[in-house]
Amino acid sequence: MKGIGYEMDELTREALADVAAAGTAADLKEVEVRWLGKKGRVTALLKELSALPPEDRKARGQQLNALKREVEAAVEARGREVERLEAEAAAARERPDVTLPGTPVRAGRLHPLTIVTEEIVDLFERMGFHVLDYPEAESEFFNFDGLNIPGDHPARDMQDTFYLADGNLMRTHTSPGQVRSMRDLDPPYRAIFPGRVYRCEATDASHEHTFYQVEGIMIDRHVSVAHMLHSMMSLLEGVFRRKVEVRLRPGYFPFVEPGFELDLRCTVCEGAGCPVCKRSGWVELLPCGLVHPNVIRAGGLDPGEWEGWAFGLGLSRLVMMRYRIDDIRWLLSGDLRLVRQF
Ligand code: DAH
Repeated sequence: MKGIGYEMDELTREALADVAAAGTAADLKEVEVRWLGKKGRVTALLKELSALPPEDRKARGQQLNALKREVEAAVEARGREVERLEAEAAAARERPDVTLPGTPVRAGRLHPLTIVTEEIVDLFERMGFHVLDYPEAESEFFNFDGLNIPGDHPARDMQDTFYLADGNLMRTHTSPGQVRSMRDLDPPYRAIFPGRVYRCEATDASHEHTFYQVEGIMIDRHVSVAHMLHSMMSLLEGVFRRKVEVRLRPGYFPFVEPGFELDLRCTVCEGAGCPVCKRSGWVELLPCGLVHPNVIRAGGLDPGEWEGWAFGLGLSRLVMMRYRIDDIRWLLSGDLRLVRQF
């Protein structure tokens, strides 16, 4: 019986070698199909059984079944091994290289407007000022009428003011806080109101539809321009952290009398003349004045008893001066390249 036994040993060796050589799950699948599949070699041999003489059939059948089981067991064992090898290879591929430099963690930064606002708030709090926040959507009364701005004033034009569907408007300045604070606080008092204001304007390097102001007010029995100047100098020297040179010019605003423009000696060129100060050496920064009696009255106070001064700082412009930012549109651009510099 050399024939069959010898052939079976050969077949078994061949099949097991085949299985052992399969390096991946896909290879192994192919080997399995080649031997055990519907058209596989073992299957083909099983089909030939019926052609054998009956006396050979049983022994041959047992041998083939044994072969089949052996190949099946080998495939299964090799399958587990291949899986482990593949997992190891994947782990090796994915193993982090701990010697690579890490991704730097970027710390968040404060926006320059926030930095300067916080400094100003700090400064005025130390001088005994309240810090108040008033609505950006405002009534015509607080934004205009209460501030002695007549109905036919050009600032009330649709071209300058964003009106809302409900008849209110987006405040065009922080001055409404003057009248509101007189109604909210008991005089004498001092207060500032930092905030966002809106103007219906075409934008360019020095104009923006949304910008920031800080309004300041002091209400007391006897108030003078000297008090006002002192507070404004403290503000400017606090922000610029050095002596600054200012000049006071008359200026007209319906809600103050007298009204002034406080100019700052240009901190960029020290007065020599540059694009920031439009070559004049001075930058218009702080309009101010003594609160108009009509405004005191709108605040519910008696102008015979109470007086006040007020200023309206152009915060966006101040920030630009301090950090030498040459285009106001950077401030609200949302561009992180700006903020990362501070
Ligand atoms: N509200 C004015 C504006 O936005 C600025 C202003 C001028 C405010 C004079 C004041 C002031 O308090 O006294 O143009």
